Parts: sequence; structure tokens; C-alpha cells
Amino acid sequence: MIYFDKKTKTFYLESKNLTYSFCVNRYGFLQHLYFGKRIDREDLTSGVCLVDRGHASNIAGAFRYNSLNEYKNECPTYGRSDYRESMLAFNFDGVRVGDLVFDSFDVLDKKPSLVGIPSVKGGETLVVKMKDGMHDVAVLLYYTVFEDLPVILRHTEILNESDKPFVLDRAYSFCVDLPSKKWEVITLPGAHLRERFIERNKLSHGIFSIDSKRGVSSGQMNPFMALVRKNTDESQGEAYGFNLVYSGDFIFKAQIEENDNVRILGGVNDYDFSWELKPSERFTSPETVMVYSDKGLGEMSRAFHDLYRKYLINERFVSKSRPIVINNWEATYFDFNTKKLCKIVDSVKNTGIDTFVLDDGWFGVRNHDKSGLGDWFVNEEKVNLREIIDYTHKNGLKFGLWFEPEMVNEQSELYKAHPDWAIKVEGLTPCTGRDQLVLDLTRKEVRDYIVESVSKILREYPIDYVKWDMNRSLTENYSKWLGVNGKETHHRYVLGLYDICERIVNGFPNIFFEGCASGGCRFDPAMLYYFPQIWTSDDSDAYMRTIIQYGTSMCYPLSSQSCHVSVCPNHQCGRNTPFSSRGDIASLGATGYELDTTKLSEEDLMAIKSQVDKYRLNERLILDGDLYRLNNPLEENLFAVMVVSKDKRVAKLTAMRPISIPNGVETRIYAQGLDENAHYYIKELDLTLSGRNLINFGLLVKFTNNDFATIDYTFEKR
Ligand code: DGJ
Repeated sequence: MIYFDKKTKTFYLESKNLTYSFCVNRYGFLQHLYFGKRIDREDLTSGVCLVDRGHASNIAGAFRYNSLNEYKNECPTYGRSDYRESMLAFNFDGVRVGDLVFDSFDVLDKKPSLVGIPSVKGGETLVVKMKDGMHDVAVLLYYTVFEDLPVILRHTEILNESDKPFVLDRAYSFCVDLPSKKWEVITLPGAHLRERFIERNKLSHGIFSIDSKRGVSSGQMNPFMALVRKNTDESQGEAYGFNLVYSGDFIFKAQIEENDNVRILGGVNDYDFSWELKPSERFTSPETVMVYSDKGLGEMSRAFHDLYRKYLINERFVSKSRPIVINNWEATYFDFNTKKLCKIVDSVKNTGIDTFVLDDGWFGVRNHDKSGLGDWFVNEEKVNLREIIDYTHKNGLKFGLWFEPEMVNEQSELYKAHPDWAIKVEGLTPCTGRDQLVLDLTRKEVRDYIVESVSKILREYPIDYVKWDMNRSLTENYSKWLGVNGKETHHRYVLGLYDICERIVNGFPNIFFEGCASGGCRFDPAMLYYFPQIWTSDDSDAYMRTIIQYGTSMCYPLSSQSCHVSVCPNHQCGRNTPFSSRGDIASLGATGYELDTTKLSEEDLMAIKSQVDKYRLNERLILDGDLYRLNNPLEENLFAVMVVSKDKRVAKLTAMRPISIPNGVETRIYAQGLDENAHYYIKELDLTLSGRNLINFGLLVKFTNNDFATIDYTFEKR
């Protein structure tokens, strides 16, 4: 609900359990008042603390005690007495000072979609118009509220209403000033093969910042940040989560200044960015999702999960039973032919696996990763695509195919014909990554080629599933075609990416698309808008996956995490883990298999069958359930999570005890999320206990006597 108090000129934005409030002050600035647990709609201006600080500068024409540096500000700009980080930075022909004041506001019933950028669907939305009268610039601040979720969405539009162009040097999506509460910050840093390892740091004076300059949201740092109190853990304390719906260069900052308050802001990274706005053009920032929880990180995560499942991810697929794939990548790499692939299909016929995915290597001349990208036509000498698809379908499985649409190898037909279609600087040898270059998606003819060549395959062959991969970060942030506006390259690349996703994904509405960027190197909400699930990491080792999947669940639902059982010794880290453990951990997402099933014993194939059967029984929990993280494997020798159905009727507990310790201490796991007043039957233990006891008394868990042992228990209300 959005409410405006005319007398105090205060906006009250109320989502489930939260209030967000700001007012228009006497100088026309938007003064932030409150963001937190739901409070009463009273006059909050009594909480505004202004002091006459030495070395301050006041608002032009105002009396002392009126420095913008003291205000909590909804939309700070540079140069007018707010010395903290600004949300926007203009360049009007060399003058970098903007002066935005309140102009008007509107409340819309439905949130308009963002032009060219994926966003979350929303209802009631406040649009506040700020104006710089001297330069005829308008800034629209959007705020969307949700009755059913503790979430506020924010984004910004900048409009040139003048008859002269100007340049935006910074155009962040949001800014929130929160009072001093000795904040700590949680982020999701990582790397290829070890994405989203949770990190927690104390904030101190200065600027704490996370970003990507790689052209992709990146596995090195996810566009997610949470501000928490010292006492906050999974089930208690305040947590503010921020997640950017964007797949390119991003930045989040948390700044503590002289007044000890914290300013959080972010959006498209302005490190090597600028954007020219010609008369009547507008710039749309990506959307920030802001979640508030007063019951810890668990509740914050569940709000993100619910939001993305209800309002972001493609409704055609989000809560539908997922394909259980056998993917040939780790089974064959590039070394396959039609016969070998058919044998893989044969081997899984009776296991319940229902989709065969042919990975990299079927097109162009691609027998290794140095050539072929860009040539989206079948390598007939290597594989008979029609035959393998027919064979797969005849055996009752669906068929999936791999693409990497955004890339080109120098050794390819495409590069020979269009060397200028790759992002590079003329005269400089371009940096390669995995021996490939990135196509210049800022150019329409390049995007058209990609859409047409990929669509041709999808039109000509009966394909049910696509894996959309992307295996390098961008370099040489420059596009010849943009000339002096080279600083627009990365953002325009991302807009180009959304354009081709829109055309390919929506062009084939019955095909299920999975996202991938060397595993989880572009795992963000904007990608989830197109791809209901993303290959979470190229690291498929069960133990590493407990850490990666635990971190990924901070804001992304289990159903969005694609998880496979692979062979041992594991190809990425050489570790041996039991087959059952690999199955249990891979069952905590959109599950699948990625190993040479032709080499498995009958016993292992039977094990796959029972894993798949169990997965299907519990699949609704993965698709719609509430996740409770119980034990963090980065902090203790235990990983445990619980997924509980919304009606609390069924639940599942999955845990791994990584290292077996002789004469070790007992492992007691304390459940969460169950109905305290009900009794639950735990099938695997043939045991019934009350929800209250499972939560407070706990469950004594006995692991088998080996490393990386797991348990996977199913709970049913009695
Ligand atoms: C990286 C992906 O993450 C892998 O699963 C596989 O598809 C390879 N690329 C193929 O090149």
C-alpha cells in the first residue's frame, strides 16, 4: 500500500511487514525517513537529526544546520553539499553539478516493465518525479510494493527534456541511507568452480564496495549484498538484502561517513561507463530488489525465493516438473559420434532420466575448444543430429542441445567472413579467453545473425531443451561502432544480450532454456527471467556443491539451481564421494546426471533409478518449498538444509558430514519451519516426533562411517 500524507508531505510505502518512508522537505529534497519493520503512519520528521557541523556546506540559500551531508537522501547527486557517494552524476558540457528537486508524483496500479531490461512483475508503484530546472533533466524514481512479500523494488529513469545532449557519468538504480547500527555486510564472492562462497565483514568508516568490470555479473562477485546486525543469523536479527536484476558490470557500495549512518547504493558500474542522452531520450537503470527481514537471513532468502518464483521466472516453467537430464559433457567432452551418443541414451532408458542433452562439439569444426564457435550448423562428418534426436525421442526421452551464441573463435567460418564482428580494438591483438572472442552485441546485424542462425537449428530440428552457455568475460571495453561512446559498450552489450534472449527464448516458447556461463559465472535475476534454471557451477563435486549451493540459496531458489551427479574421482578436484551422497546433494536443485552411464554397473543404474524416483516424489518441495539453512559447511563439519512445504505437511532434511572423525561427537540437527503442534513421521528412521521436539530437542543423526556421508530424510505430517 502506498500512502501520501499531504500535511507532512510524507510517503509511506508498506509491503508485508515493512515500512519504507520518505518526505519532501522544505527545500524540495527527498528526505529518507525509515526502512525497516512495519511501523505506524505517524509524523516521522521528528526523527530527522540535523547538526551544525564544522566544515559543512549548507543547501544553497538555506540557513545553517542544512547540509545535504546530514540528510538521509533518496536521490543524492554530486556537487551540492552532500559529500558522500552520489547516485547520479551528470556532465552538462563540463558542468558536473546537478540540482534535483521534487516536481510531482503518481501512483500506478501496475508497475510498467522496464524498457529493454528484464524486471520483476509488480503491482502498486510510486513514481516520484525530480527535476533539475536549470538543465531540463527529469529523474523518475520508481518504488513498487508487495502485499504478500517484504520487498520493495526500485529503479530510476533519467530523461533529457532539454534541447541539448548531456552525458550521464553515473546512473545508479537506488540509494538508501540507514541509521548507524554497527552493520555487517554479507556478500557472495567466488571464482569459476567455486562460485558464491558466503563472506561476512564488519563495516567501518569509508566505502565497502563490490563490483564486476567483466561485462558479466560474474562468478567472482554476485550482484547481491546484505546488511545485517551483529546478532543476525539464519533465524534471528535484522537483514536487508539487495539484489540487482542485471547481468553486466554492476556495483554495490556501503559507505559509513562522519555521521556514522550507512549509505547503500548501486546499479550499473560507472567505472568505465558514460551514457549520452540526446534530447527526449531516456536512460533506464536496472531494477534493485530490496528485501527486509527481522527474523534473520533465512526469512530474507525465502522472500527472494518467493518473489523470483512468483513474479520473475517464466511462469510456463517455474513450477512445472523439471527435465532430469543426462548430459554428455563429462562423459565424452568433444570425443563423440552418433553411435556413442545413442549408447548413452540406451544406457539410461530405464532409469527415469527423461532428457538427453548433447553438449559442446556438434557444430562447425569443433573437436576441441579452439575452433568453431559462431558456426551454428551441424558438423555432419562428426554427428548425425537428426538420427540422435530421433533415437532419443524413440526411446521416450526429450532432446536438448548446447549453444554458446555470444561467442566466436578466430578459427571459424563466421570470423573469416566478419572479423569486425568481434569486440576488439583495431591494431591491438585482442585478448582471448578459452581461445575465443566475444561478438559485438551492440550491433544489430550481429544480433540478427545470432538470432537467425540459432533459430534455424531450433526450427529445423525437434529440440525440447537448450543449454545457453557463455565461457569468457569481456575485455577491450570498446566498440568501433559506438566510436566516442565506447564507454557505453558494456551496458549496450547487456542490452543486446537481452534482445537476443528475448527473440530466441520467446521465439520458441515450448523449448526449455537452461542458462550457463562456465557454470555459475552469470547467475543473476535477469538471467533467471529467461532461464528458469542455471548450471550452478562447473564444479560437480558433492562436497564443493554443498558450499556453492548453500551460498547460491542466499537469494536464488533451489529450483533455479541446476545440479548434476558426476563421476568419481571428480573431474574438477579429484575427490571421491559416495554415489548416494552425490545423488542427495544433486537432488537439492534441478537434478541431472553428467557421467558416462555406459560404463556404469547394473547396480549403479538401479541406484540412479531410485534417486530419480525419490527426486520425483520430493520434487514439489524443490519447486515450491520453503528453504531453511541449518548448518553452514564453511563454518562447521556439517552441511544441513531443510525444505518444508508451504502447508507444512511434508518436508525433507538433507545433510552431509564432510569428514568422518573417529570417536566423533554426536551430530544433532535442529529442524526449522515445521508445524510445532503437529507430529511428523520420518520414513527413513521409522520414527515419529512432534514438530516442537524436532525443532527444540533436535534429531540425532547417524552418518555412515566414511567421509562425505549424507542423509536425506522425508517428513510427513501425521
Ligand atoms: C562450460 C559449461 O559450464 C560446461 O557444462 C560445458 O557445457 C562446457 N562449457 C562446454 O564447452
